Amino acid sequence: MAGSKTYYLTTPIYYVNDAPHIGHAYTTLACDVLARFHRLDGKEVFFLTGTDEHGQKVEKAAVEAGVDPQAFTDRVSVNFRDLATAMAFSNDDFIRTTEDRHTRSAQAIWKALADNGEIYLGSYAGWYAVRDEAFYTDSELETRADGTKVAKTSGATVEWVEEPSYFFRLSEWQDRLLDFYDKNPDFIRPESRRNEVVSFVRSGLKDLSVSRTTFEWGIPVPGDEAHIMYVWLDALTNYITAVGYPETDSELFRRCWPADLHMVGKDILRFHAVYWPAFLMAAGLEPPKRVFAHGWWTNEGQKISKSLGNVIEPNALIERYGLDPVRYFLLREVPFGNDGDFSHRAMVGRLNGDLANDLGNLCQRVLSMISRNCGGSLPDPTTRQTEADVELITGADALLPRLREELDVQAFHTALAAIWAVIGEANRYIDSQAPWALRKTDPERMGAVLYALAETIRKIAILLQIFMPGSAAAILEQLSVPTAARTLSDLDVPLRPGVSMPKPQPVFPRYVEEEEEP
Ligand code: MSP
Repeated sequence: MAGSKTYYLTTPIYYVNDAPHIGHAYTTLACDVLARFHRLDGKEVFFLTGTDEHGQKVEKAAVEAGVDPQAFTDRVSVNFRDLATAMAFSNDDFIRTTEDRHTRSAQAIWKALADNGEIYLGSYAGWYAVRDEAFYTDSELETRADGTKVAKTSGATVEWVEEPSYFFRLSEWQDRLLDFYDKNPDFIRPESRRNEVVSFVRSGLKDLSVSRTTFEWGIPVPGDEAHIMYVWLDALTNYITAVGYPETDSELFRRCWPADLHMVGKDILRFHAVYWPAFLMAAGLEPPKRVFAHGWWTNEGQKISKSLGNVIEPNALIERYGLDPVRYFLLREVPFGNDGDFSHRAMVGRLNGDLANDLGNLCQRVLSMISRNCGGSLPDPTTRQTEADVELITGADALLPRLREELDVQAFHTALAAIWAVIGEANRYIDSQAPWALRKTDPERMGAVLYALAETIRKIAILLQIFMPGSAAAILEQLSVPTAARTLSDLDVPLRPGVSMPKPQPVFPRYVEEEEEP
């Protein structure tokens, strides 16, 4: 595949001051599913995640923890690596902004911007929210009853900042950005978010402060070490650092850049869809192909926040419901792009309904009938295949093109709904064909029915590997599908009659409510 484009996708890099929570897990999970899909499809994939370790917010957290910022970030960054393992994320790299490769890259983009006349020295006097690491204008703020000023969008408290600062000539990029959005209508997804960004840019852009002098935890501005780079310029640059910037002629950079997808939450879309393409174009680099902004989770109807004490920890969810049910729930429950609510009730509904009943029972019924009635080897359907069998299998064959379409627009929920429609068909088919009743009267026909079902389950399980890698592997194992025969191109290679199958084990146990403590 020499010279072909690698599918390059990224998650935001996470602030290390927070423990990993459901929001972090969600963004990376969505990327993981896409990465797995493209790999199974035979593409080269580069999937990046990591941690954002500079800035005032992280410095503050380190001071509060009583450790120096480097030791602090070394310690907490590990939590995000551990999250990747716990969630079975298949990232190819994990970047930390405190790494040397990143300092070099961030200073190089700064130099490119400065050399191109895009940066000038001035002074900043205005509002800054440490929690968002963002500058706000008066019109973006509101005053609370107690007199504190907060950002309207995030509710973060702002403080007045006055200091010398370098500025990026963002105001001069307005037309070129609008032109770029116009020529690349899919650059920002979903559509509603695109409209928000376009109208924000249309309303006029001000030059952006890109350096700070009143604290030290950051990357020094080349040639003027009294300044450190604004943490968002530093952080966004991670996406090019990881593919080799400033070596733009390197094999990795050429194969990966521009990135195919930056997946982000709606709160950080402006940084990715306005500032980032402007920085890149100003530095002479191509902007990414797409930025997708997903929605936010609430917990049982309430905003998730540390102060409310209702933060959902991924590890606690995994322990309670199992990893694959959690992965399934997060992408099935809410149309991707919308906000969603996590509730125990909805989680158990999906686990017991979609997973244990619909898919789990289907597998268990079919596999145990093969085990009990066919001597544990797959029956030969050839002599007794009917149109109904072919129809069932054809329905499963239609899934791949459908998934391609849905995943191309990051519509995970509809991709899963399409798979479940076929699972529903298979369950109706098993009921209408009643293979158990054929055991004595027409064993050959029973064999053909079980074959059609096993083949349908195989196709479903191959596709489900991207969402639920562990459970899908367990199903494929029980169907004796070799590991080397589980890619998307193997969808068309049918199961071989006569192959022996192990004794089936249930894949999705039902969730049983624990007894109330006395
Ligand atoms: N460090 C920046 C990103 C820099 S990227 C160059 C940052 N980090 S963060 O840790 O605060 O947030 C990371 C991601 O988590 C964001 O995409 C954000 O939308 C997401 N989430 C945080 N809370 C969330 C929910 N409650 N629900 C869904 N996602 C949320 O921003």
